[in-house]
Formats: sequence, C-alpha cells, structure tokens
Amino acid sequence: MTNKYMYFIANWKMFGGLNSLKSLNKVIKFLKSFKKNKLFEIIYCPPFTLIGPMANKLKFSKIKVGAQNCHESKSYGPFTGSINVSMLKDIGAKYIIIGHSENRQAGETDKLINSKIKSSLKSGLKVIFCIGETFSERRKKITNQILNKQIKAGLKNIKNRNKILIAYEPVWSIGTGLIPKSQDLFKSISFIKKKCKKSKVLYGGSVNPNNINIFKAIKIIDGYLIGSASQNSKKFIDIIKKSYN
Ligand code: 13P
Repeated sequence: MTNKYMYFIANWKMFGGLNSLKSLNKVIKFLKSFKKNKLFEIIYCPPFTLIGPMANKLKFSKIKVGAQNCHESKSYGPFTGSINVSMLKDIGAKYIIIGHSENRQAGETDKLINSKIKSSLKSGLKVIFCIGETFSERRKKITNQILNKQIKAGLKNIKNRNKILIAYEPVWSIGTGLIPKSQDLFKSISFIKKKCKKSKVLYGGSVNPNNINIFKAIKIIDGYLIGSASQNSKKFIDIIKKSYN
C-alpha cells in the first residue's frame, strides 16, 4: 500500500473523437467514490481537437486536461496548421507533453524542445517533459549519457523545474509490451532525480493493469504516462486502483 502522491497521465496520442468523451464518465464516477482520491492527480492529454470539449466536460471534476505538443512561439503568427501555448491555455489545458519520442523521431530537436518548454512555462502550463533512450543506445550502454544530454539541452536555462514533470520513456518500451528490468528502471529514475532534484519523475512505456505491480514496487516512481491502456477507462482505473491497494 502506498500513500504517495502520484500522477496518472493519459496520452491518447492520435486517437479519439467526440464519442470517446463518454468513456470519461466511468473515471469521473470512480474518482468520486475512491477513498484515496486526494492522493493523486489524473491528467488527460487528448488530441488538440478534444481539449476544449474535454475541459468543458471535466470542469466540475478534479481531472485536469493537457495537450500533447505545441508550436514554440508564445504569440500568434503565420504558422499554418500550428497551435501555440496561449491557445491551449485559452481552451482549458493545464499541462502539456513536450519532447515525446514520437515527435523526436519526426525531427524535433533538443533545441526546439527547449523553446517549447520555455513558452509553455511562461504561459503558465505545467510541462510533462519526455526523455528516453532507443534500443540501440541501451545496447551500447549509453543510456545515462543520452538522458543527461536530453535533460541538459531540453532544460537549458530553465529555473522553475518544480513546474516540470519528467517522464522517463525508454523508446523501445513504447507500445511494445516490453518493460525495463526493475533494477535498471530504478537506476535510470535515480539518475534523473539526481540531475533534476525539483522535478517529479514518472515512467512511461507499456504500463498496464497486469504489470503495474512491478512498477509499484519501485517506490521512487512518482507516476505514469500511459498510452494505449489509457484509452480504455477500465484499464486506466485498474492501474490507479492497483497502485493504491
Ligand atoms: P504505451 O503505454 O502505449 O506503451 O505508450 C506509452 C507512451 O508513449 C506514453 O506517452
């Protein structure tokens, strides 16, 4: 049993339409009746198109809404197809995921990530900053080097790190069902915590109700960034329940 303050973050990625909001009813209901509901925070990060409707649906709930990315410019500009942090804040986002490996793989650099984090913090959004090594980097035993580089460059000249949650997501674990060995995960989370003393450190990568007990045993983890299991409210609720039983 734990009484630790935890974060359960749902990353819906590019999934979901207005119909998907119905699935939140179960989570809202669960939250009202669950005795330990003051011990954790739930944050849903749906696609841009659902942020407004979701924030509206959740206005009387303690569940928060976040975005999955943004343009780096804080002000309006001629950037077709882009959305900036002020626009996200305007429609009810409180958090934002920055530096997800799926965006890094699509060309997002550490420098760009750094600008996005700065804009987000300036506009008052809390940041979920993703870092993690690829499979080949892990095989070369350079995981810490990679994490160090991503932290240094991504958080360059950023002081208010207590507004940043770091999500350690090994790239090879995302969507694969593979998870790190507990001792390796403990080492990586400890390493990140040593580098960023003020930030909470979460884990992400194939978290589901069947493996949550493995993560739960690693007491230094402050929460989870959950992909596919978060789209199923029963699985998402199970993960939370099991974290506190
Ligand atoms: P999965 O939980 O589907 O592996 O995705 C993890 C992730 O990328 C969360 O950001």
